[in-house]
Amino acid sequence: MQKILVQGGKPLHGDVRISGAKNAVLPILCAGLLADDVLRVSNVPRLHDVKTTLRLLGELGAGIAIDDAFNIRIDPRTVHSHVAPYELVKTMRASVLVLGPLLARYGAAEVSLPGGCAIGSRPIDQHIKGMQALGADISVDHGFIKASAKRLRGARVVFDMVSVGATENVLMAATLAEGRTVLENAAMEPEIIDLAVCLRAMGANIEGDGTGRIVVEGVERLHGAEHSVVPDRIETGTFLVAAAMTGGRITATHARPETLDAVIDKLKEAGAVIDCTDDSITLDMGGRRPHAVNLSTAPHPGFPTDMQAQFMAMNCIADGVGVMIETIFENRFMHVQELLRLGADIRVEGHTAIVRGVDKLSGAPVMATDLRASASLILAGLVADGETVIDRIYHLDRGYENIEAKLSALGAGIRRID
Ligand code: UD1
Repeated sequence: MQKILVQGGKPLHGDVRISGAKNAVLPILCAGLLADDVLRVSNVPRLHDVKTTLRLLGELGAGIAIDDAFNIRIDPRTVHSHVAPYELVKTMRASVLVLGPLLARYGAAEVSLPGGCAIGSRPIDQHIKGMQALGADISVDHGFIKASAKRLRGARVVFDMVSVGATENVLMAATLAEGRTVLENAAMEPEIIDLAVCLRAMGANIEGDGTGRIVVEGVERLHGAEHSVVPDRIETGTFLVAAAMTGGRITATHARPETLDAVIDKLKEAGAVIDCTDDSITLDMGGRRPHAVNLSTAPHPGFPTDMQAQFMAMNCIADGVGVMIETIFENRFMHVQELLRLGADIRVEGHTAIVRGVDKLSGAPVMATDLRASASLILAGLVADGETVIDRIYHLDRGYENIEAKLSALGAGIRRID
């Protein structure tokens, strides 16, 4: 199995090109099922989760073509199945995002229940509640959600909590429902806006995306379209934290600064000097040690849970004590045990981690437990004395395009080993 070896101690310098967002491209590819013609998607990151999504769409019968630049063409006219099997859903929870499109377009969907995952139990009750509000019949049998409806009817859906996936699933379903759907307590993440931009290009009538209230007027059909995926704010944030921790100076290009307000504020609090243009972010740490920051994760525009582990790595070597509260997922501190192996000083009490910065981490073998935890271990390795070897890096390939190539171009000592 492949591992990543990091040789710590080198500040990062230079430019890094940000890829398209994983969490935007997955729902957008699924939205291709809603159309009655071809959807072309560009700025697609080369990620394992993208390949899994394409495999799923292919199993449903969609025609998939990928060119050399990894532009993707989805032709839904040959779809003949409405079953998302366990083998695919268990490896990638986002597979559940075919539920809304299949139901809205083909009147039936069978999607395996995803089950728990490392960072928490992650139920999908809000997805189901939304589909039922739109008039779907839903049963859960033999581990599958079976949903059917003649034609979905617009309705008012009030989510019990803010869920990115449920908002996306019900939004996609509502585009082809009869009449008006109002989503209340909707997620406001930039990836929801990007999905809505793509759906509008396909002919959908959507207003209010990016706010907590999204209004959809259903249409009879959606047509083909072209869409370029929004830059990945979590990848951007990960590189910025890496630069801050190592005392370096980098520019993230092809980025979208306005999607990163909470992250940029915390980096400034840590002592970074940040300059933004419309599509780039330059962070200069000038060789200084970061100050510890306190933070609490929250739905957008709050501080993203997907950046918590990376900031914890920074707090591990920061000046002072950082109090970090995780409010979104119940079990998202698994990187703590691994950071302790590198010499960090962290105490966890329930959903709170208290991180006391140490002068130096020391390299050691560690194990990645989930996607963002893997990133935090790489970041810690960048500032640790000696070598850090990270095992189980398949998590990384699910969500970061060429992270070791991009870091090594910035001057990091990092390589993949067998
Ligand atoms: C998405 C992101 C993930 C990110 C998360 C939170 C994708 C592919 N993944 O995941 O990277 O960490 O948003 O920003 O976009 N919940 C329920 N019932 C539901 C749905 C969710 O109780 O039906 C709970 C979850 O267990 C969790 C919280 O709501 O505690 C937020 O989850 P949600 O926003 O749905 O996360 P995902 O869409 O799965």
